Amino acid sequence: MEFIVKNNIQWVGKIDWELRKFHGDEYSTHRGSSYNSYLIQEEKTALIDTVWGPFAKEYVENLQKVIDLKKIDFIIACHSENDHSGALPELMKHIPDTPIYCTKNGARILKGLYHQDWNFQIVKTGDKLSLGNKDLTFIEAPMLHWPDSMFTYLSSDAVLFSNDAFGQHYASEVMFNDRVDQAELFQECIKYYANILTPFSSLVIKKIKEVLGFNLPLDMICTSHGIIWRDNPAQIIEKYLEWADNYQENQITILYDTMWDSTRIMAEEIAAGIKERDDQVTVKLFNLAKADKNDAITEVFKSKAILMGSSTINNGILVHVAALLEEIKGLKFKKKKAGAFGSYGWSGEAVKIMLERLDNSGFDIIDQGLRIIWAPDEESKLACRAYGKTFVEGL
Ligand code: FEO
Repeated sequence: MEFIVKNNIQWVGKIDWELRKFHGDEYSTHRGSSYNSYLIQEEKTALIDTVWGPFAKEYVENLQKVIDLKKIDFIIACHSENDHSGALPELMKHIPDTPIYCTKNGARILKGLYHQDWNFQIVKTGDKLSLGNKDLTFIEAPMLHWPDSMFTYLSSDAVLFSNDAFGQHYASEVMFNDRVDQAELFQECIKYYANILTPFSSLVIKKIKEVLGFNLPLDMICTSHGIIWRDNPAQIIEKYLEWADNYQENQITILYDTMWDSTRIMAEEIAAGIKERDDQVTVKLFNLAKADKNDAITEVFKSKAILMGSSTINNGILVHVAALLEEIKGLKFKKKKAGAFGSYGWSGEAVKIMLERLDNSGFDIIDQGLRIIWAPDEESKLACRAYGKTFVEGL
């Protein structure tokens, strides 16, 4: 499949309807994804990014139906990660001397991944490449989300090729933002931001301000995953500025794992206590052994506070809780409050461990947490409700 994006810009990527896990097993993709590659045929022809390796042969075969590969003058590699560069080895077998424009880090990473001495042309912010009547301008975007990332802007058509930024893992046969279900689209956008871009939020704000400072007209944003923003593309930039600014909604998320249901009962009683005291706040519960971790992280991103729950096992915490704590440490959430709870039989270290880890991950710990021995009785359930009330009062 290929289609016209605008004037002489053609989409020549791959829609991956089957994808359910990305980055190995690290990111769930409930709605599939796409690897967007764009062919711009002006006086000169440029190819922007490729697709993931498993689709390399299919990609090159399709591209050959669109253009004689020898007519491609320039390859632009906005980002070296495998999902965009994976088809380069197959493509370069056909056109080994074609220059690849990328950042200095991009060349370093591509060499590290593919061990090829391709014709790399290093570009920096502000460098231009003429396609004839139109120019490509490069804008480095280091750590959004890899050191090599860059944007490419096509003059006259006013199209920004943003690579991963502003993208989503979302397969759609229509590929334009105004043609898809808006709730699905924005759910995938916020999940993408929460799980991938959160640690780089200060850089996101800086980079967006820098790009806006160029006062470039903007008609479309062509991302490397998911739909193309052609209807009011500024809307996703505004969302990014909002999300990057320590985003939170009026929500508390309770994340737990449980061995014999006691910690689950605690979670539900605490939730009931929160709601008794504040019926405006949204409360969501996730058993981390059963929930999708990336969906759970998205809810953490939306929360003003979280509560972590775990039974004590072998003087420690349950493994699914430990895994999520490890992830949220790396995501560097800011300005969120936290508490912890759990049932225990004899030693009961889980609450202390969770609070220490949350504290080390930048959460503001607002109390000592709540421990209940064995199964909660009516008195313990009241204690859980009271804890929920006190917790929400303390926010
Ligand atoms: Fe879509 Fe960072 O690769």
